[in-house]
Amino acid sequence: MSEKIHLLLENITKIYRGGNSDGSADVKALDSVSLEVPHGQFLAVMGASGSGKSTLLHVAAGLTRPTDGNIRIGETRISELSDKNLTRFRRQNIGIVFQAFNLIPTLTAEENILMPLLAGGSLRTPKSKVNHAMDQLLARLNLTERRRHYPDALSGGEQQRVAIARALFTDFLDEDSKNSLLLADEPTGNLDTANSDIICRLLRELCDERSHTMLVVTHEPAIAKWADRVIFLKDGKISKDESAEEFRKSLGQEA
Ligand SMILES: Nc1ncnc2c1ncn2[C@@H]1O[C@H](COP(=O)(O)OP(=O)(O)OP(=O)(O)O)[C@@H](O)[C@H]1O
Ligand SMILES: [Mg+2]
Repeated sequence: MSEKIHLLLENITKIYRGGNSDGSADVKALDSVSLEVPHGQFLAVMGASGSGKSTLLHVAAGLTRPTDGNIRIGETRISELSDKNLTRFRRQNIGIVFQAFNLIPTLTAEENILMPLLAGGSLRTPKSKVNHAMDQLLARLNLTERRRHYPDALSGGEQQRVAIARALFTDFLDEDSKNSLLLADEPTGNLDTANSDIICRLLRELCDERSHTMLVVTHEPAIAKWADRVIFLKDGKISKDESAEEFRKSLGQEA
């Protein structure tokens, strides 16, 4: 039985125009990339700096339009949506943890986490349910004591965990939510091993409990070990595509 594909990238090319009329300053960040990610898969994306990892995530999220190629998320061809419909689709279906995790400095940790929900329109979910989900998520991310702190009173790692909570919260609130897409760019870049493990375990559990599909960019083989599959980008192309098992073997640390 073939697995149902949740994210499909078909021949995606992304060229950043450099402004020279002869194209000499253009950068081809993605070069005809095709990728199928089944429902519930945790995919780690690795590769050298500048290889196109963030661009791949931004294109998959519909934040950047590809120069060429098609993208499907679930049954939706996002390359065909208008900007307005794409924004709505993204709010409802995709959680994003950015490489630069800009928190709003004038809002507390808790208020930052609530932002996407508030931006999505009026808050229709009962307050008690919101508070309950918030308590649970903060506890799982080791942030309970920090909920009323402002970003400048949080460590880098705490800020990063708040950004992760913000990406997860809308979905966490909806216990029936299935098959949503979570994209994270270096989510543990500022974290020590213990907190990295907390994040990786939470991502893994969300994948397993709710069939979430995840693309997680990382430089750290330690995270990739939590994944089901690891791809490597090189010069805007997929240079390697391995199962987690193959990846662990290639690290010489059989599970
Ligand atoms: N907005 C932009 N305009 C022009 N070039 C860009 C733009 N964004 C990225 N690039 C270029 O595209 C290539 C891929 O960039 P990308 O940010 O996807 O790399 P990355 O793999 O995420 O790197 P890192 O590990 O350093 O975050 C790089 O050569 C980069 O300089
Ligand atoms: Mg990047």
